[in-house]
Amino acid sequence: MKILITAGPTREPIDPVRFISNRSSGKMGYALARAFRRLNHEVLLISGPTHIDVPDLVDFIPVETAEEMYHAVSQMISRADVAIFCAAVADYTMKEIAPQKIKKTGDSLTLVMQKTKDILGSARSVHGFAGYLVGFAAETENLEQQARDKLQRKDCDMIIANDVSQQGIGFDASDNEVMIIEAHENTILPRDSKEHIAHHLAAMITEKAIRKNIASA
Ligand code: PMT
Repeated sequence: MKILITAGPTREPIDPVRFISNRSSGKMGYALARAFRRLNHEVLLISGPTHIDVPDLVDFIPVETAEEMYHAVSQMISRADVAIFCAAVADYTMKEIAPQKIKKTGDSLTLVMQKTKDILGSARSVHGFAGYLVGFAAETENLEQQARDKLQRKDCDMIIANDVSQQGIGFDASDNEVMIIEAHENTILPRDSKEHIAHHLAAMITEKAIRKNIASA
């Protein structure tokens, strides 16, 4: 199967030397890319800036901003059988990027930002993606409820929820612990390395995607 994966953070520029970003390292998304590759799938990784080497035999599109990630996904999603949105995409970007470095003039500085496009939310509604759709949910409270709400709102087959308020898992950690939310069941993968979690997820998603594709064929 053809698997599209988004990973890493996005960077939203403020001026020529500054940007707003987040603590995503890309570890979870890159581990997924390696795990699907090991299962012999064709993998396309669309990633914001990270310090991780691109896995062997994985197609790669580097992006920087949420808008660039949206554009890359828009171009490529029709070729995918499975799309997995692991990237920590900025929800807001600057309304206007200052053309020159902002000078330190006052005691405070107000930045005016506007919403970015919801890449996961556009998969079905804008791009008509009919394959197996997996979102992530990074939550600090009401993990299951928030993730189940995302599953329905964004018309996903699966949401992989992680509690990013917990020490040692989630953003920029080597481990994770996830709750897998589907329409009629929840499955918990207890704390383990992102490599092992990715291995379980890749096997599970492969099986479910094959079942879905057979059912809709
Ligand atoms: O990169 P690591 O350091 O390994 O950390 C992994 C992780 C914590 C980033 C990862 O496990 C994770 O939770 N990724 C999703 C982070 C996130 O932004 O979650 P969210 O709940 O804000 O977004 C929900 C979903 O919508 C996600 O699938 C996200 O990719 C997607 N989204 C969000 C905003 C937007 N504009 N477009 C999107 O597609």
